[in-house]
Amino acid sequence: MVLGSGLGSLVDRMEVDSSVPFAKAGLPASGVPGHQGEFVLGSFAGREVIVMRGRVHLYEGHDAKAVTAGIRWMAENGIEGVVLTNAAGSLAPDLPPGSWMRIDDQLNLTGTSPLEGGPNFVDMSEIYDACWRQQITDVAAARKLELGAGVYAGLRGPQYETPAEIRMLRSLGATAVGMSTVLEAIQAKALGLRVVGLSCLTNFAAGMPQAVLDHGDVVETGRAAAAGMLEVLSDWLGGQGG
Ligand code: 6GU
Repeated sequence: MVLGSGLGSLVDRMEVDSSVPFAKAGLPASGVPGHQGEFVLGSFAGREVIVMRGRVHLYEGHDAKAVTAGIRWMAENGIEGVVLTNAAGSLAPDLPPGSWMRIDDQLNLTGTSPLEGGPNFVDMSEIYDACWRQQITDVAAARKLELGAGVYAGLRGPQYETPAEIRMLRSLGATAVGMSTVLEAIQAKALGLRVVGLSCLTNFAAGMPQAVLDHGDVVETGRAAAAGMLEVLSDWLGGQGG
């Protein structure tokens, strides 16, 4: 599980066996407030998990290989699937700050790929596992947590978008916008992992009514919205056979 801004508190609900700082696994440490840099190994809701607390971003000056090194490390350590979470801006009036979106598909607008150098031509027609998507939606409905669904556009950042860029993204079919996740999802898919993606919509994107773009608010809204999603993830993982 890769935890974006706010969801780091999932670790408090784990039975922790050990932790490995990013540096020890060959990853750069993340220096962004609200992000940390370690793998936490243990169990959550009775399932063995590796939690990546924090992540590496392109906007910190790292390349696509560094950004996805954590996915490869977790795959080497036996994971079968990956839950990618992030904080994102909303392009959908019906997904206000504090709501969650299931990622059904993505736009990789970073201009790069972790697969440069191979493998080539990997099928990306279903990155986000259809079965897991349905399960998450069912569990969220049982918990009465409103879960939207849509397309996540991943950009390099580090700046937020202009209103014109947001209009462009909307015309391209994006529902949410952020600066992470897409490269990790591509890497995970190429490794044959099942992928689930969840965006915490922390604010409306630029040019939308009520758009407020402040990193402190983003982190805080993510933190406040985390509680409901932690329950959903706990129910889902706890309820999964084998
Ligand atoms: Cl509006 N844009 C991007 N790129 N990332 C975000 C965001 C917006 N809000 C939270 N994360």
